[in-house]
Amino acid sequence: MNSLVLLALLASVVAGKAPRLKFVVHGPPRFHFSRPENYISMYHQEGSDTLYVGGRAVIYALKFTNRGVFDVQIPVASDQTAIDTCRAKAAPVELECDNFITVLQKVNDTFIVCGTNAGSPRCWMLVNDTVLTDVQGGHIASASDISPPYPSQKFISLPADGSLYSAMSVAGGQSGSIRRTFGPQKLLKTENVWLLNPQFAGAAIIPSSEKYKEEIYFFFSEFNQSAKMDEEPFRARIGRVCTVDEGGIMQLLPNSWTTFMKARVMCGAGNTQQQYNNLKQAAVVTAQEQRAGIMYGLFSNAWGKKVICAYSIEDINKAFSTSRLKGYSSPLSGNRPGMCARKGSISEQNLIKNLGVIRYNPEIEDVIRPVGVAPLDLPTDDEITHTLADITLAVNDEHYTVLYLGTEQGKVLKAIHTNQEVFIISQYSLFHNEGPVLNMAIDSQKGHLYVGTAMEIQRLPLADCSRYGDTCRDCILSRDPYCGWDKARRKCVTIPPGYNTTYGTLLQNLDQSNSSVCGEAAALKQRRTSPKEVVIQSNTSVFLPCPVRSFHAFYRWEKDNCIKNYPCLFSGDFCVLGPLVDTPLKEGVFRCMATEDGFKVEVISFRLVNDGRLLSASIASTFGLSLLLAVATLWLH
Ligand SMILES: *[C@@H]1O[C@H](CO)[C@@H](O)[C@H](O)[C@H]1NC(C)=O
Ligand SMILES: *[C@@H]1O[C@H](CO)[C@@H](O)[C@H](O)[C@H]1NC(C)=O
Ligand SMILES: *[C@@H]1O[C@H](CO)[C@@H](O)[C@H](O)[C@H]1NC(C)=O
Ligand SMILES: *[C@@H]1O[C@H](CO)[C@@H](O)[C@H](O)[C@H]1NC(C)=O
Ligand SMILES: *[C@@H]1O[C@H](CO)[C@@H](O)[C@H](O)[C@H]1NC(C)=O
Ligand SMILES: *[C@@H]1O[C@H](CO)[C@@H](O)[C@H](O)[C@H]1NC(C)=O
Repeated sequence: MNSLVLLALLASVVAGKAPRLKFVVHGPPRFHFSRPENYISMYHQEGSDTLYVGGRAVIYALKFTNRGVFDVQIPVASDQTAIDTCRAKAAPVELECDNFITVLQKVNDTFIVCGTNAGSPRCWMLVNDTVLTDVQGGHIASASDISPPYPSQKFISLPADGSLYSAMSVAGGQSGSIRRTFGPQKLLKTENVWLLNPQFAGAAIIPSSEKYKEEIYFFFSEFNQSAKMDEEPFRARIGRVCTVDEGGIMQLLPNSWTTFMKARVMCGAGNTQQQYNNLKQAAVVTAQEQRAGIMYGLFSNAWGKKVICAYSIEDINKAFSTSRLKGYSSPLSGNRPGMCARKGSISEQNLIKNLGVIRYNPEIEDVIRPVGVAPLDLPTDDEITHTLADITLAVNDEHYTVLYLGTEQGKVLKAIHTNQEVFIISQYSLFHNEGPVLNMAIDSQKGHLYVGTAMEIQRLPLADCSRYGDTCRDCILSRDPYCGWDKARRKCVTIPPGYNTTYGTLLQNLDQSNSSVCGEAAALKQRRTSPKEVVIQSNTSVFLPCPVRSFHAFYRWEKDNCIKNYPCLFSGDFCVLGPLVDTPLKEGVFRCMATEDGFKVEVISFRLVNDGRLLSASIASTFGLSLLLAVATLWLH
C-alpha cells in the first residue's frame, strides 16, 4: 500500500520538458537585501566588478569578489513635501510614496540617477560614488520625462553616443513618449499621435559601420481602448529613430524626431489567429559595428501565456528602408523619409516634403515576422520573467547566441539558439529564497551574469565549463558555446578571447547532441562502478536511487548483468527504482545505466544483501523512501 502511494508521487514528477543539466549554486558571491526590494534598477559597466542597484531610497554599490560581496549604500531620500502630497493622494498605492531609484546610467562619464521621489520625479548626478548633486553638463529634460512618478510604471532609459534616451509608458494623464532627455544634442520627443497608449518593453542601439546611420530601436505594445470585445486590443511594435536626428524646422516638427518610424511586430504561427500581441520585454544582440543581430521578444497573449519570438535585425532594417508607408500612396522618390542622413545632405525642398510625410505617416506597411515564422519552441514549462542574450564566437568561427531566461521561481535557464532549435544547456538554482527574477545585467567582456530578485543579487560566470565533467563526452554534450574540450590538457575549458580557430586544439559540437568528435575510443570506454552494499530486511520495500546528471539521458536499471532491465522514475535529482510487480528487488547487484547520444554509461550500482529479518510496518512506512534516499545521498558525496 505504502509503496504504491510513494510510486504515485514519484510518477507525478517525471521530467517532461527539462533542461539537460540542473545546477545548484551554493557558494558566494551573493548579496542579501536587508528588506525586500520589489523594484530594482541596475547599472553595470563592462569590465567592472561593481554592480549598482537602485532600490527604495537607496543605491547599492555592490563590489563582487571571490570572497563575497562588499556593499556601499548611498541613501537617496524623497522630499518630505513630495511624500506628504503623495500620501494625501494615496496614488496609486501609498506604498509607492517613496523614492524608488529608477534610472542609473552613465552618459559619457556623467552618472545620472533618477528616482520617483514620491510621485514627483527628480534626477541627480552621482559624483565619486558618494555625493548626489544637481545635473550639469548638457541639456536636460524635465525629470518626469526621464523617470516615471511611480515604480510600477514601465519606462526605458538608454545612453547612446553621449546622450540619454528615455521612453515613458502611458499613465495617468501622460500619453507616453520617446525622447532624447540629456546630452549635448537637441532634446527631442515623439508627437502624441505617433504612439497609442504605449507600454515599453526595451530598447537597443543598432550600430552601423557608418556612424551617422546609427539607430535606436524601441520595443513596445500599443493598446487600443476602443477595440471591441472580440478584437485584440494590443499591438506589438518596433519604433526607431536615428541618433543624428536634430529635429525639424521652425514650422514643422521643431522639437520632434524627424526620423521616427514604427512597424507592427507579429509573434505567432504564420497567419493563424493564435498571435501573441503583448510585448512584455525585449533583448537584442548585435554583431559589433554591423547591422546584423537578433531581437528576442517576450510576448504574452490574452490568457497570459508567454512565448519568445526571435527577429532578424536585418529583416527589420530592410522593412524600414523599403516598405511603403501606411496611408501614403505617392512614390517615395529621392531620400526616403525617416532615413538617417548627415546634416545638410538633403535639399531643403526634399527635407520639408519628408517632414510632412513623417508627421502624418510614420508607420510602415510591412509587418515584422519572427525567424522560423513562429515562436521559439522552448523545451520548458517554466514561466519566464526576464530575458537577456549574449553572442559568442565558437570554435567553428561562427557566432552563436546564448539566451539567459530568468523564471518566476528565481531560476536562470541558459539556452543556445541555433538555426534549428533552442537547446536548454542548464538550469541554475541561485537563490536561497524563491522569487521571480526581476532584473539581469551581463558583462560579456569579463564573462559575468548578474541576476536580481527582490531578496538577493547573485553573480554567475557565463563560461562555467568545469561543471560539465571531466570527460570529452560530457564537455561536448553540454553544447555550451563558451566551452570546448582541450585535447592536450584533457579538460573542459573556456574558449579564450581571440582564440584562433586554425590552431584546432579545442573541440566543440554545438548544432546537435553528438559527441563523435571525441573519437570512438573515448565513447566506448564504459565506466564500471563498484557496488555499494545495502542490507535489507526481507519484507521491506527498497528504493534504489540513481543520481541524474543529464535530464536528457535515458535511465534504466540492470540486475546481475542480465539482459532484462527495469525502468525507474524521476524524483528530484534521482531516478528511483522501486518495488514494481516484476522487479526482483531482493538480492543481487543492481546497476543504473544512462544512455545518451547512443552511448550507455554506468552511473552507480548497489549490492542488495538480505539479512533475513523482518522490519515492522510502522518503521518501514515512516522511513522507507526518505531514509534510503538520504543514505544514498551521503554515499554520493
Ligand atoms: C571627487 O573627488 C575628487 C578627487 O578626490 C575631488 O577633487 C572632488 O572634490 C570630489 N567631488 C565631490 C563632489 O566630492
Ligand atoms: C564625451 O566625453 C569626451 C571626453 O570627456 C568628450 O571629448 C566628448 O566630446 C564627449 N562626448 C559627448 C557626446 O559629449
Ligand atoms: C481601435 O479600434 C477601433 C475599433 O475596432 C478601430 O475603429 C480603430 O481604428 C482602432 N484604432 C487604431 C489606431 O487602430
Ligand atoms: C590564425 O593563425 C594563423 C597561423 O598562425 C594565421 O595565419 C592567421 O592570421 C590567424 N588568424 C587570426 C584571425 O588571427
Ligand atoms: C554523430 O555524427 C557522426 C558524424 O557526423 C555521424 O556519423 C553519427 O551518425 C552521429 N551520431 C548520432 C547519434 O547522430
Ligand atoms: C513484515 O512482516 C511482519 C511479520 O509478518 C509484519 O508484521 C510486518 O507488518 C511486515 N512489514 C511490512 C513492511 O510489510
